[in-house]
Amino acid sequence: MDKIIIQGQAKLSGEVEISGAKNAVLPIMTATLLVNGVSKISQVPDLKDTRTMIKLLEIIGAKCDFINGNLKIDATSVDNPEAPYDLVKTMRASFYVLGPLLARFGYVKVSLPGGCAWGPRPVDYHLNALKKLGAKITLKSGYILAEAKRLKGANISFDFPSVGATGNIVMAAATALGITKISNAAKEPEIVQLCDYLNLMGANIKGIGTSKLVIEGVDLLKSADIKVIPDRIEAGTFLVAGALLGEITLKNVIPKHLDSMLSKLSDCGCDIASTETSITISPAKLLNPVDMTTDVYPGFATDLQAQWVALMTLAEGSSIITDNVYHDRFSHVPELNRFGANIKMKKNVALIRGVKELIGAPVMSTDIRASASLIVAGLAAKGETSVSRIYHIDRGYEKIEAKFRSLGANIMRKNT
Ligand code: EPU
Repeated sequence: MDKIIIQGQAKLSGEVEISGAKNAVLPIMTATLLVNGVSKISQVPDLKDTRTMIKLLEIIGAKCDFINGNLKIDATSVDNPEAPYDLVKTMRASFYVLGPLLARFGYVKVSLPGGCAWGPRPVDYHLNALKKLGAKITLKSGYILAEAKRLKGANISFDFPSVGATGNIVMAAATALGITKISNAAKEPEIVQLCDYLNLMGANIKGIGTSKLVIEGVDLLKSADIKVIPDRIEAGTFLVAGALLGEITLKNVIPKHLDSMLSKLSDCGCDIASTETSITISPAKLLNPVDMTTDVYPGFATDLQAQWVALMTLAEGSSIITDNVYHDRFSHVPELNRFGANIKMKKNVALIRGVKELIGAPVMSTDIRASASLIVAGLAAKGETSVSRIYHIDRGYEKIEAKFRSLGANIMRKNT
């Protein structure tokens, strides 16, 4: 199994190009199943998750062609509206096929995802909303079977603005009969891009980027092409590394998507300069401790919480980090403490006392973002760090060690 080996404390400098967003491309890929045609997606990151989604689309019957960040999906011969357990258990985003396949075929069978490394992560919002649209839902042998000749528009209100449920329901409602209104919808940039894409396909979605979406169902969608937005979470991960290790410039970013993080980084004392498509960050002379609570967009992303915790371990004082989106998403904390960090947990709150330095250690990654936090900590730590189980990082970060190496880090992948 591969490991990442880091000799820490190398100064970083230079430019790094941010890849297309994982959490934007995955639902866009499933949206192509809505049309009997060929769709082209560009700036597609070459990730394990993208490859898993390609595998799933191929099982469903689509033909996929992925070269140099360009993905062509031919969904004309799609004939198997099923998502098997083996794939759904490795990538929850497989659940995104539920809405589009039900809309196109009137029938879909998708494995129930089950729990994940940081808690139960239920799918009740997806299922209750589909029921409101008229679907008959049954659970059999771990699979959800959903049926509806044609979905019918309805009023849906989510208790929490779930990203996945909003995406699934928007895709299902795009060709439903009549009008669907979603209140408390997710406003994340990835959902905005999905809605924009559906409109390019001929859907009629209004209120995009607000918490109230109105979808007037259309009879037929046509194929469309799209370029995936830059990954704000990958960008945020590099910003944390820059805050610790040297002035770096991120190219191909949308700074507005990172507003809440950029404002926290300047509270830390970092110098930040942005253009429309780039961000330059320089480390603070003294890194101020800054409390942070995750929230839905435009709040601080839960997908950057682990990296923020890593940053705060080296701040000049104490900070409090709360995750309100996922209460159990702290598997990185015991691993960060192995570097000599001083973090205590109280339910969904991390209490961090900054230490003078971290010392390299063998650590283990447990999920995508936890792995990113361990890599950032390893880059900042004195001596050698080895990060095992790095298949997690490969799910969501394209060429991470090559990108850090190009900035001057001493990091390599080793097959053990
Ligand atoms: N929730 C429910 N019931 C549901 C759906 C969600 O109770 O039916 C709860 C969840 O348990 C959670 C909250 O609502 O407490 C938010 O979950 P959400 O549905 O928004 O998350 P998701 O769609 O499953 C996406 C991203 C995650 C990211 C979250 C939050 C993708 C493929 N995944 O997940 O990204 O953490 O939104 O922003 O877009 C990652 O990239 O590492 C990752 C985990």
